[in-house]
Amino acid sequence: MKVADIFLCLNVLLTAGALVNAFDPITTSVGVGLFAAVGRTIYKYFHESCDTKWIAFNATGLKTDLDEKLFGQHLASRIILRAVSGFMSNENPKKPLVLSLHGWTGTGKNFVSKLIAENVYKEGMHSSFVHVFTSTLHFPHPSLIATYKSELQQWIKGNVSSCERSMFIFDEMDKMHPGLIDCIKPYLDYYDKLDGVSYRKSIFIFLSNAGGESIVQTTLDFWKAGRIREEMELKDVETSLSLSVFNNNKSGFFHTSLIDKNLVDFFVPFLPLEYLHIVQCALAEMKARNLPPDMDVADQVAKDLVYFPKSERVFSVKGCKTIESKLDYYT
Ligand SMILES: Nc1ncnc2c1ncn2[C@@H]1O[C@H](COP(=O)(O)OP(=O)(O)OP(=O)(O)O)[C@@H](O)[C@H]1O
Ligand SMILES: [Mg+2]
Repeated sequence: MKVADIFLCLNVLLTAGALVNAFDPITTSVGVGLFAAVGRTIYKYFHESCDTKWIAFNATGLKTDLDEKLFGQHLASRIILRAVSGFMSNENPKKPLVLSLHGWTGTGKNFVSKLIAENVYKEGMHSSFVHVFTSTLHFPHPSLIATYKSELQQWIKGNVSSCERSMFIFDEMDKMHPGLIDCIKPYLDYYDKLDGVSYRKSIFIFLSNAGGESIVQTTLDFWKAGRIREEMELKDVETSLSLSVFNNNKSGFFHTSLIDKNLVDFFVPFLPLEYLHIVQCALAEMKARNLPPDMDVADQVAKDLVYFPKSERVFSVKGCKTIESKLDYYT
């Protein structure tokens, strides 16, 4: 809201207040009515609603963010830009967009979800249409699965009923009870409507470490063969990724037909991060803190981290996590 608009609102309010004081009961009720109307207008102006003023996909913004802020993830970057742009520009999608983000810890899965949210919703992750579920936090007790199931279904239905452009992020999907994954399946499918509600314009994002090791192995093989990381293609990781996710007994994915029913539109691999990417993360964090870029400090931060496998020490064990606290130490 511009300053001039705020002044205009205040002016209207003051004038209405003066009217209420000065006139008889009829004028007073007119004044109160006016107050209420102005109040409603101001409320609507500030309060997020499910319309294009608050929800408008910025394709260029997403591309720039992925290019400039996400390091070392050429595959994820490419897939996500295409998937989200294609979906958001389709006025009549046949099903909701379902992305499953996989990879080692600290490689940018939550970070990318945030970038997507920021380029779809004006309020980004703070939008009332973006919902994050973390399995260990929201669904911790296996004995309560039946309750969680009905709550989750009601929650999804209620939210999509009030805004079809809703986004649901399920974190730690590999720790989620298979029964719970099963209960969200109908919403991901090709249904025109379920109980009168259409879910086809919503976005579901699943985050997990499932398949992380197979992605690391493929990336390591590339590195050992002296090949350029950016030459890695989706097909290089795709098969081993879906096999390892599918064959992992511990992973909830295994027990469900999410995969074999093709409900997931894109499996997105996140590669393990190397020294160079850690330096980039440290420099980005300095920028975010309005500090001048200091290559020596960035190097120091990157040197402090632990790298694996033991013999080669190529990938950061914690990815770009803990960079913030390390930077506190050096600055
Ligand atoms: N590839 C990346 N490019 C830029 N910054 C990154 C990247 N990966 C991680 N970061 C930084 O590190 C922080 C932690 O990363 P994030 O939470 O996205 O990791 P994650 O993949 O979700 O890990 P986990 O599997 O442990 O949940 C991010 O907020 C971001 O600042
Ligand atoms: Mg995460």
